[in-house]
Amino acid sequence: MPTKKKSRKAEDLDSEDELEREILGEEDQEEGKEVSDKLIKTELTELPGIGPKTEAKLREAGYPTIVSIAVATPTELSAVADLGVATAQKLIIAARQKAEFNFKPANLLYKLRQNIGKITTCSQNLDNLLGGGIEAQAITEVFGEFRTGKTQIAHQLAVCVQQPPEKGGLNGSAIYIDSEGTFRPERIVQMSTALGLDPDKILENIQVARVYNSDHQMFITDKAQEMIVEKNVKLIVVDSVTSHFRAEYMGRENLPTRQGKLNRHLHTLQRIADIYSCVVFLTNQAMADPAAIFGDPTRSVGGHILAHVPQTRVYLKKSKDIRRVAKLIDSPSLPEGECIFTISEVGIRDP
Ligand SMILES: Nc1ncnc2c1ncn2[C@@H]1O[C@H](COP(=O)(O)OP(=O)(O)O)[C@@H](O)[C@H]1O
Ligand SMILES: [Mg+2]
Repeated sequence: MPTKKKSRKAEDLDSEDELEREILGEEDQEEGKEVSDKLIKTELTELPGIGPKTEAKLREAGYPTIVSIAVATPTELSAVADLGVATAQKLIIAARQKAEFNFKPANLLYKLRQNIGKITTCSQNLDNLLGGGIEAQAITEVFGEFRTGKTQIAHQLAVCVQQPPEKGGLNGSAIYIDSEGTFRPERIVQMSTALGLDPDKILENIQVARVYNSDHQMFITDKAQEMIVEKNVKLIVVDSVTSHFRAEYMGRENLPTRQGKLNRHLHTLQRIADIYSCVVFLTNQAMADPAAIFGDPTRSVGGHILAHVPQTRVYLKKSKDIRRVAKLIDSPSLPEGECIFTISEVGIRDP
């Protein structure tokens, strides 16, 4: 059913193309991309009062672009770059002026959204459930118990993102933040070979960071921003996003600290997804608690904060043998639903 809906939409668009060109102007269609390209590449030193020293500090702390400054808070900037709060505030205002954050008419947003990239999962069923693949400029979270396929899907995406758009990729490279030590280059080789791709080239374009605690995870995520433009990164995997936070902040009394940090981490990831048009793909191990068994089976670790930040949440469940069930729990524009996919040597596929 989703396929039918999609092709009808595509037809309508073709026939309305002339009209839209008239309404928006040809340049407007490219506007979003050009503006964001310009902002990513603008040097920080173009902002008043930023010399090479402050620039280096900001870059190091994970604020390498005008946009990253424009969306920061004065307290956060003053802390990382040894600036007074008032100076940081001025800097943010200057960055906002340069960034030209403005209202946009919804028809332009609509047009820009048509161009948002998606990465195929290599399962038509799963792609259809997700409206055509895993969407860029958004956070997608998969959660489920051990061995339900979270890590396998992450590996599959790291391969598929490198394909051209007509093959379900974004012609980009991947960053894989591995908190559980389960990244396996051998799996990438198997999955690439199955798609007729050169495994060496595919491996070369996956930057892997093993992270050992939650601070390390947050630091690496900030660092990742420096690499995104240079390496044309279009996918950021965090597998898993919650395990360190959960292990380090056990017990009720630590819950507020944990949620506060996790919230900050997720907002950095959200900002990266928005600014660089990346796919952010998070995995999260579902908690096996009595409430999950007798009540809502779709709870995940991270509580309310994780439940509200990712735009799309997919629950994975084991089925017979190599089969897995994926259930779409939360999406801003797609109906809830479920489907079956398989995990085998070649990767993620349809049954
Ligand atoms: N080389 C392989 N060939 C076939 N199946 C595999 C291979 N590697 C992993 N799998 C399958 O993937 C499952 C583990 O999925 P994984 O994504 O690692 O789970 P998790 O949800 O815990 O991250 C295993 O149970 C196995 O069925
Ligand atoms: Mg895993």
